[in-house]
Amino acid sequence: MPTPTHTLWICDSARPQIHGRGCCNDRGSERLLEHFAAALERKGLSDRIAVIPSSCMANCPMGISVKVTPGRVCYSQVQLEDVDEIIERHLLGGEPVTRLLTQEIASD
Ligand code: FES
Repeated sequence: MPTPTHTLWICDSARPQIHGRGCCNDRGSERLLEHFAAALERKGLSDRIAVIPSSCMANCPMGISVKVTPGRVCYSQVQLEDVDEIIERHLLGGEPVTRLLTQEIASD
């Protein structure tokens, strides 16, 4: 099996709903993980791009948070409908999806 060229770290952190910061799990991170995995399988990219659940990325109010390695690209508020664009534009095309970049990273 080839070594993946990229890894998608998807925050799947959960905390009680009464917590003010919220969490990515409550926003549907499990479905997002499944959606990324299914899309990569469908496109024949499962061997090249790994999808791994992650702990909190300290961006909770803007979740679901996704980090791509190698590199330092972090995305905020990622939804199911963003999956194909992240795969095609960023992972295959090398261009991050600017509108989803986490603010601190986008302003670097
Ligand atoms: S719970 Fe996902 S960034 Fe904190």
